[in-house]
Formats: sequence, C-alpha cells, structure tokens
Amino acid sequence: MTIEIIPLAPHIGAEIRGVDLAQPLDDQTRAAIHAAWLQHVVLLFRDQTLTQQNLLDATTIFGRIGQLARPKAFRPPGFDRLLDNIMLISNIRENGEPIGALPDGEMMFHHDMMHAAIPHKGTCLYSVEVPSHGGDTVFANGYAAYETLADEVRAPLEGKRAFHHYNYGSTQKGDGKGTAAFSESSHPVFRTHEDTGRKAIYVNRLMTERVEGLSAEDSARLLNLVYDHAEKPEWLYAHVWRPRDLLVWDNRCSMHARTDFPAGERRLMLRTTVEGEAAPV
Ligand code: SIN
Repeated sequence: MTIEIIPLAPHIGAEIRGVDLAQPLDDQTRAAIHAAWLQHVVLLFRDQTLTQQNLLDATTIFGRIGQLARPKAFRPPGFDRLLDNIMLISNIRENGEPIGALPDGEMMFHHDMMHAAIPHKGTCLYSVEVPSHGGDTVFANGYAAYETLADEVRAPLEGKRAFHHYNYGSTQKGDGKGTAAFSESSHPVFRTHEDTGRKAIYVNRLMTERVEGLSAEDSARLLNLVYDHAEKPEWLYAHVWRPRDLLVWDNRCSMHARTDFPAGERRLMLRTTVEGEAAPV
C-alpha cells in the first residue's frame, strides 16, 4: 500500500492519505505511518469509518495500548458498549451527568498523562459527533519551541525538573472541576524523546505548578516566558474536526489545547492512549 503524507502546518502535523484503518495494514505501511508520526508529531486520518476494535488496532501502530486505570464512562450513543481502554471525551449528558471526560468548552494547553510517573506517550482521538463550530484541538510543537527558546530563559531551566498536579476533568487551572481522582508528578522541564533523541518543552499552563529548586517568583516568571513562547502561532496546528477524523499525537514532544464550543451542541470522541515505556529524562 502506498501512503501519501501531506504536511498540515509549517512545524507540526501531517495528513495521511491512502489508508483505510478498518482494514488490516501490512508491516511496511505500519512502519511508514509510525515513522511519519515521529517526524510530524501529529497525524490526521480523514473519513475513517472505525469500530471500537478498529480504533484499538490502529492504536497498536504506535505502541502498546495504554491501560485505563479510571472507571469506564457510560455506553456511548450508537454503540452497544464501551470496550476496555477506550475512553469517551464528550459533553453529552444522561440524567444531567456527562457521559465522558473533559466535557465542556475551552481547555488550556497540556500534555496528556503528564501527571503520571510514566506518562502515556501517544493519544488517539476519533470523532463521532462534532459541534457546528469550535471545539478545535490546537497542537504546539515542543521541539521547535525548545530549539528557539531564548538563552536567558532556557539556561536557568536546563537540567531542572518541574512539579505537576492534575485533577481529572479540569480544563482551566484552578477551575475546581473534575472527579476526586488526581495525581502529581515531577518530570524534566525539557524532555529528551526516546525515539528521536531531540529535546522538547515539557511543562504546560494547565498542569505545571512550579520548577523545583527555584524561588516561587523565578519559577513563575520563567514558566510564563516558556508558555508564551511555546504557544506562539508559528508552532501551532489547529485542527477543525469533521466526523470520522482520527488524530494521533505524540505527548512527548507536543502539547495541545481546545477552543470553546457551543454548550448546546453535541461533541463525542473516542480516545485511546499509547503506553509510555519509561519515565521522562
Ligand atoms: C484531550 O485533551 O485529550 C481532549 C482534546 C479535545 O477534546 O479536543
């Protein structure tokens, strides 16, 4: 099978064409998709009609399927039941309660699973229902931002670690939302990617609390400078969803945010993750 790889933005993202993820793929095609992921950080597959099992199978192109430790959400509309290790991201409510995680509106930049000791390295998000506008997922290339960070910001942070705190369900820092489950972690401020050997920014506005070993004032000042640089439009790709899109992103070298969308319109996504192999260094 020959695949086409079409860049989506100057620094991040590529669309893969010529692939039907509902069909078994040969090893060469799987390897080409994996290599494109390492190069482009975010991959888009349009017009994919996937069962939950197809989504799980597609996830294995990128590594082992991440195990979900938290309780399963409800049965998604249109599906008989939710398979293991598939999570719902949705604002749809049944009896007043959201059927999925991260239900509403705008979400600050974050790296998925950064709060874990060994964060999941990738995320797959498959769109079933999307609002008429908004709810875009915006990706930032952490390599490009690291490589262009001003020396006076980078040097005092090089070799340092940061402390992260996250409460599942929060989409804005300090919004007080989310379930009781939360988790904390400490990781390098700049992370070396296991497969590419490149360094990327590994702190974000939603989850990072402070840089260890710095005064609160220096930590806040430097982190804000890093965020302002890392979120500049030149490093970004904003994905406008259509139903049956699959996006796969690398959490080791990118972060993402979500734009606001109308509360009265339905958004339903199925999400899987790719297990991480080691604690970040
Ligand atoms: C996520 O951060 O995993 C969800 C992103 C989205 O809902 O677009």
